Amino acid sequence: MISKRIEQIAFSSTVKVNQKARELRAQGVDILDLSAGEPDFNTPEYIKLAAKQAIDNDFTRYTAVAGLPEVRQVIADYLRTSYRIDYSIDEIIISNGVKHALYNLFMALLDPGDEVIIPAPYWVSYPEQVKLAGGIPVFVDTDESKDFLLTPENLESAITAGSKALVLCNPSNPTGTMYEEEQLRPLAEICVRHNIMIISDEIYSRLVYNGHHFISIAALSDRIKKYSVVLNGVSKTFAMTGWRIGFAAGPRDLIAAMGKVQSHNSSNSCTVSQMATKTALSQESKELSEMCLHFENRGKYLMERLAEMPGIECVRPMGGFSAFPKVRAWFGKQVDRNTIENSMQFVEFLIEKARVAVVPGDAFGKDGYIRISFATSMDVIERAMDRMAQALKELN
Ligand SMILES: Cc1ncc(COP(=O)(O)O)c(C=O)c1O
Repeated sequence: MISKRIEQIAFSSTVKVNQKARELRAQGVDILDLSAGEPDFNTPEYIKLAAKQAIDNDFTRYTAVAGLPEVRQVIADYLRTSYRIDYSIDEIIISNGVKHALYNLFMALLDPGDEVIIPAPYWVSYPEQVKLAGGIPVFVDTDESKDFLLTPENLESAITAGSKALVLCNPSNPTGTMYEEEQLRPLAEICVRHNIMIISDEIYSRLVYNGHHFISIAALSDRIKKYSVVLNGVSKTFAMTGWRIGFAAGPRDLIAAMGKVQSHNSSNSCTVSQMATKTALSQESKELSEMCLHFENRGKYLMERLAEMPGIECVRPMGGFSAFPKVRAWFGKQVDRNTIENSMQFVEFLIEKARVAVVPGDAFGKDGYIRISFATSMDVIERAMDRMAQALKELN
């Protein structure tokens, strides 16, 4: 009964890990969870207050499909001041999170068989959303020695007559690495030359540290901006994952087409959340800088601990709240007479022997690695690293 379209969509292997961790927890085993994809902080009080006021002021009805003009204006101002990109409000659409905006974008952009270039490791939903929209994901492997960043040569080699778009996750989930201007510009020039749309997922771009500065691809030139759609939101930046607000900014006709899709799959995003977003984006947030500092310190600590572990190598994250260490050196080792042969089996070993939950690299299209989230307290990270170090010692 299930459509072919849905049958080709994969369940993420994160589900498998979560299930295993949940089963053990139900048996009373204390599992330390480093698999989370959301900040462990609460939404700041001033944003919650804005939502309460919105309800009291009866902002409880449908809005324009693309979102309230006053909120889109605040988003336009935010993109101008924080990223130096100029958009008018008809070049902006507010959706139910970046995930929803991306879905609408692929539906609006792709014809059956269109190819979308996705550098691996990638965020889990890109390939499945491309397939849902009838497109073909074309994966380009990236190299740890180049911070997992797509190179111009790799991009050129993936381009065919069917290439329609390139997805860049900047800074990246899962690796935490980021493109600087000199790495972005040649990629953008190639896309413009080949008439390829650049889909720039910048959801982690305010959570940047270790002295790095983010630059949006759309800020590079007016010509590049015409070929770019920028996606961003409040989920990660303001610890608002449950409010479901993301937005896209790009060429007017494409944003209008996304609006057409959205008018049939959800209409406007939650009116109360839109008003909370208006406040979040229009005020300086000390909570945001505090959160960044926590992520920076936790990331630094995690890197120190991983560096002490034999057979583990990790590229230092520049933003976001995850790191992507290589664990391949442990493949071939025996655990209870079973050989570890891939990152999923390494993750199972960590759950069983260290009681630590992380995500296997193959969920992100790169076996031999694991994703460790540091969106959890320093205490949990410390204890998890102690346990992981001990389990590896016993495996040796
Ligand atoms: C790279 C990336 N893009 C998009 C999203 C979706 O975010 P939102 O909560 O805005 O839908 C996530 C969430 O995990 C993400 O990691």
